[in-house]
Amino acid sequence: MALTAKLQEALNEQLKYEFESAYIYLAMATYLDSRDLEGATHWMRLQAREEITHAAKFHTYLSDRDANIVLQAIPAPPAKWDSIVATFAAALAHEQKMTERLNKLMDLAQSEKDHATVSLLQWFVDEQVEEEATIKTVIARLKLVGEDSSGLFMIDRDLSTRVIPPQIGAGTTFA
Ligand code: FEO
Repeated sequence: MALTAKLQEALNEQLKYEFESAYIYLAMATYLDSRDLEGATHWMRLQAREEITHAAKFHTYLSDRDANIVLQAIPAPPAKWDSIVATFAAALAHEQKMTERLNKLMDLAQSEKDHATVSLLQWFVDEQVEEEATIKTVIARLKLVGEDSSGLFMIDRDLSTRVIPPQIGAGTTFA
């Protein structure tokens, strides 16, 4: 069964949003690096890398479904935030927007009765719960230490221990 035109368009748009997410997190990594927050920079770089795997997952899926893949322009992300906590708060707001987009995409896939797309999107919907929770935990810890530099130093050190997530299935890299 071919993807409907509406779903094809919406999935192409989501592919762009995943790249846009990577771009936003790379911008955040750049800002954090300028503040000499090595751990937070590392964390954001990995976040950007994870978004690329999400983009690859949509790209592979569209290709497997013989869809017309149209790569769209990615808007330039902001370059600066007010603080480390403001950066993570912006990351959370971005993920909440992504959750909304994925939920709408799921609604569409269900109304078009495209079960394979529903199955693909279920992974993303579940992933969003974990992504939002992880960022909320970082924000809570940052708020707890406030301006205390030794507390911030410890959080930054913890953020440096983030590891690359295990491979999340076939078609999640461009290699
Ligand atoms: Fe691909 Fe963080 O959503």
